[in-house]
Amino acid sequence: MTGVPTPEVVLTARELTRHYEISRGLFKPHATVRALNGVSFELTAGKTLAVVGESGCGKSTLARALTLIEQPTSGSLQIAGQEVTGASKAERKQLRRDVQMVFQNPYASLNPRQKIGDQLAEPLLINTPLSRAERRERVQAMMQQVGLRPEHYQRYPHMFSGGQRQRIALARAMMLNPKVLVADEPTSALDVSIQAQVLNLFMDLQEQYGTAYVFISHNLAVVRHVANEVLVMYLGRPVEIGSSARIYARPLHPYTQALLSATPTIHPDQLKPKIKIVGELPNPLDPPPGCAFHKRCPYATERCRVEVPELRLLDARQVACHHAETINA
Ligand SMILES: Nc1ncnc2c1ncn2[C@@H]1O[C@H](COP(=O)(O)OP(=O)(O)OP(=O)(O)O)[C@@H](O)[C@H]1O
Ligand SMILES: [Mg+2]
Repeated sequence: MTGVPTPEVVLTARELTRHYEISRGLFKPHATVRALNGVSFELTAGKTLAVVGESGCGKSTLARALTLIEQPTSGSLQIAGQEVTGASKAERKQLRRDVQMVFQNPYASLNPRQKIGDQLAEPLLINTPLSRAERRERVQAMMQQVGLRPEHYQRYPHMFSGGQRQRIALARAMMLNPKVLVADEPTSALDVSIQAQVLNLFMDLQEQYGTAYVFISHNLAVVRHVANEVLVMYLGRPVEIGSSARIYARPLHPYTQALLSATPTIHPDQLKPKIKIVGELPNPLDPPPGCAFHKRCPYATERCRVEVPELRLLDARQVACHHAETINA
C-alpha cells in the first residue's frame, strides 16, 4: 500500500437549518427567527474548522445543533457516518459522547460544589466500566496534560483562575476522547496574555488525540493559527468557506475582506485598503431580500438587491457573491 491515507470524515453537515418561532405578543402571529439558514461542511479527524462572523450571525446556534443540544429544523447531520436525525434515544446518547463542547464561560459549565477531580471523573463513571482507582489514574493523567497539578484534584472551581478553569473544561470535554470538539468562543473571556496559552493547549491536545475541532470566534485574528479551514457566516448563511491559507491570503467575499481588514496586522505595509462595515447586522426576523449583506456592501448592485447569491467555487474555495470576480480582479 502506498500513497496518502484518505482523511477520515468525522462529521458531515448538509443544509443545516434552525429557525425559532417567537411570540410577538397577544393576538399577533408568531414570528420566525432564521438563526441558521442552510450550512453545509465536512469535518476531518485532526483538523480545525473555524466558524467566524459577527454577533448574532448564528454561530452558537450552529454549535448547539452540532452537539445535539438542539434539533435542527431541517437538514442533515452525520457523526462518524451515522445520521443524527431519526436516530433512536440510545443512539443519540452514544453520539453525544462523540461530540463534546467547550463554552465561552468555563465557570458556568463547571459545578461549583463538586471537586475538580470528581467532575473530571464523572464522564468515566457514567460511560465506562473503569474502577475508581483507574478513573483516578486517568483523571490525574489528563490533569497533567492540561497543565494542572495533582493537588488541584481536591479543589473547587472558584479556587482557579479563568485560564485554569478553561483548562479544566477542556480536560472534561476530552475525557472520553470525542471525535469532535466544538469550542464556542473559548478564549474570548480570557486575558489576552492567557489566550495564546489556552490556544496552544487546544492544538497540543488535537495533535495527540486526532480530534476534529469546530472553533467558533468573532475574531479572525484569533483563529488564524488554529484553523485549517474557515467558514465565514453572515445572518445564518455561509458567505465564504475554504482553506484558511487561501482565505487569509486572498479573501474574496466583501464581508470576509471587511472582517479581515478590521483585525490588526503586524505588517502595516501589507494593509489593503480598509473596508468598513457600516450599519448593523439586519434583523433576522426580517432579512433583506437578495444578498443579506447588500445593505452594507460597497459593491452592491441592483442584482444583489433581488437575487440571493449561492455558494460557488472560485479560486479553490466557495464564495457567495455575485460580483466576486469583478471586485477581486
Ligand atoms: N432560543 C432562541 N429563540 C429565539 N431566537 C434565538 C434563540 N437563540 C438564538 N436566537 C437568535 O438567533 C440569532 C443567532 O444567535 P446566535 O446566538 O447563534 O448568534 P452568535 O453568532 O452566537 O452571536 P454571538 O457572537 O453574540 O454569540 C440571533 O438573532 C438570536 O437572537
Ligand atoms: Mg454565540
